[in-house]
Amino acid sequence: PAPTPEIRKGLAGVVVDTTAVSKVNPDTNSLLYRGYPVQELAARKSFEEVAYLLWHGELPTPEQLAAQTAVERENRALPGEVRNAILELPTSCHPMDVCRTAVSVMGAHDPSAEDSSPEAEHAKALRLWAMMPAVVALDQRRRRGQQIVDPDEDLGYAENFLHMTFGEVPDACVVRAFEVSMVLYAEHSFNASTFTARVITSTLSDLHSAVTGAIGALKGPLHGGANEAVMATFAEIGTADRAAAWLDEALAGKRRIMGFGHRVYKSGDSRVPTMKKTLDDLVAHLGTDEATALDELYDALEAAMTERKGILPNLDYPTGPAYHLMGFDTPTFTPLFVAARVVGWTAHVVEQRAANALIRPLSQYVGQAQRTVP
Ligand code: SDX
Repeated sequence: PAPTPEIRKGLAGVVVDTTAVSKVNPDTNSLLYRGYPVQELAARKSFEEVAYLLWHGELPTPEQLAAQTAVERENRALPGEVRNAILELPTSCHPMDVCRTAVSVMGAHDPSAEDSSPEAEHAKALRLWAMMPAVVALDQRRRRGQQIVDPDEDLGYAENFLHMTFGEVPDACVVRAFEVSMVLYAEHSFNASTFTARVITSTLSDLHSAVTGAIGALKGPLHGGANEAVMATFAEIGTADRAAAWLDEALAGKRRIMGFGHRVYKSGDSRVPTMKKTLDDLVAHLGTDEATALDELYDALEAAMTERKGILPNLDYPTGPAYHLMGFDTPTFTPLFVAARVVGWTAHVVEQRAANALIRPLSQYVGQAQRTVP
């Protein structure tokens, strides 16, 4: 008989292609975007500059940044067909379904939807990225029964995103925290949603289809949806003194603790220190009882999880409470992840197409042996 093939469930540890977009290195617990350490980019560069870097491979010159910014700002407003599609969706559906639907409508109306030249792909990626904040902000405001706030071309990407969501530009500390989260969420090699985008691109399908599929993958709580699930965990626990007992019961029930663990990082997620520092700055800046209580709960659960399972936080763990303290509704958290990761997804769409091979793995058949139809 043929030797039983080794099955790598979940493609764990399987290297399926090369990439030049980012390097996730669990041995050194580091992440490079086109060669630059992500924590340095988060500290010194705007999200706009990092987006340019991921798409084009180099940090932009002032002229290149100005050109990108001009296009981004003039494409922020949602076309009527996208806005109407969102407003027709029930507020009972998950905001990730709104993101997925909005991208599909954008693709259906984009005259260059079927043009897969690098120039067209970059132009589509930039327009998608420009419009996502308005999609996310509109959806949160309609669910709250608030008036829609139009984009403001005089504001930067992060400031405009917050202004459309909350009706005002918050303190610089909040804007900085939000921008750091966007830079850290922007890209992470072949994670499930990015790989989904590459699988769809590998059949020579279009960029909007790839991003729509990626949004579907990111929604799951084992992936991007974890940042929302972290808040549900905190709500279940209540106060810091109950964290250990809650964890013992959860682990006894074989539950996955959201915001902890990672398929690639096994000694901690390289992005967590930067985002945790950002969360700490936010807590100190706000100085409210709620912020302090959340910070204590964060530390208590992390300590208990480290002590009992030795499993460390991933990026979703500090980002969830940070988004809560910035004022976002929990169901908006993963759509925020979409607005950032759409940059990484589209950079990978372009890279996949440039050196494409149809992605089609094998399976080992364990079903019925061949039999005759009666
Ligand atoms: C993201 O890939 C990326 O880069 C993703 C991401 C990105 O930037 O794109 O980093 C973003 O998705 C971060 C991950 C967010 N997900 C969560 O926080 C959900 C909770 N995490 C787990 O479900 C889990 O850690 C995964 C899914 C993230 C990774 O799981 P693996 O690699 O498939 O490992 P596993 O689930 O098989 O667990 C291995 C062991 C198991 O023990 P046994 O059952 O074999 O005894 O570790 C345990 C698990 O029980 N374990 C956990 C755990 N994570 C692993 N136990 C409790 N809680 C957890 N969170």
